[in-house]
Amino acid sequence: MTETDFQDLTDEALRRWGTAHTPRLQELLTGLVRHLHDYAREVNLTEDEWMAAIQWLTRTGQISDDKREEFILASDVLGLSMLVVQLNHDFDPAATPATVLGPFHIDGSPAAPYGFDMSEGIDGVPLFVTGTVTDIAGRALPGAVLDVWQADSDGLYEAQISEAEEARLRAKYETREDGTYCLRSVVPLGYSIPMDGPVGSLITQTDISHYRPAHIHFLIDEPGYRRLITHIFEDGTRYLDNDVVFGTRKELITQFVHHAHGVAPDGTDFDSPYVTAEFNFVLQPE
Ligand SMILES: [Fe+2]
Repeated sequence: MTETDFQDLTDEALRRWGTAHTPRLQELLTGLVRHLHDYAREVNLTEDEWMAAIQWLTRTGQISDDKREEFILASDVLGLSMLVVQLNHDFDPAATPATVLGPFHIDGSPAAPYGFDMSEGIDGVPLFVTGTVTDIAGRALPGAVLDVWQADSDGLYEAQISEAEEARLRAKYETREDGTYCLRSVVPLGYSIPMDGPVGSLITQTDISHYRPAHIHFLIDEPGYRRLITHIFEDGTRYLDNDVVFGTRKELITQFVHHAHGVAPDGTDFDSPYVTAEFNFVLQPE
């Protein structure tokens, strides 16, 4: 009979998972085993605590579906998502920096023409975002697709509104020949992450602020360029300095200009308030 102590058990687990069939998988799995074992030793993990953690992971899976991604949220609030973004997006300083995807992106948003109002009558102050998509040298990228999604003026995403049957505050805009785009929406509100699930129940046991500053999500996947997942943030909005998902970058903050009335970028004549913002996206070559 072989005698084992804790260190032997870890060595044996490392040996077993080190048999993974590719060097990279070996590295990923043995690293995971090593850190998990070290973690358990470091905090003297009790059986009750370990079971509570397993049940938390189970609930995190159970509450997730094709519109709610509680594991992404967990990764976001732990700072892991943003760390992985930073590790993988060492872009040229001239390129638009990436930030977290977040849990609310929905595939297959409808194509929208230049200036299309993706709010489609949802309450809120009209917002126009205009700008360009270019490469680092400033060359326009015509036909680049901007996949856009955002929260409404109550801070809610489509995924959080059970009766939403059509695409809500999300659309795909294409740049014109000169690389310009124009989207119309409503001014988003900074929002709380969903607090009714396992992530929220953990956060309520801390002093962590569970809010995100107002922002609009963009995903631009242009052939020949690195996929850009990013947001733009309203300058001066609340929570910019303590974003619960660590997603804020100063390069992504832009002025939201409030107009009492006037002619909007799409030519609409407003006799009531509206807001404009400009943001120029610069893509990193492959
Ligand atoms: Fe968001």
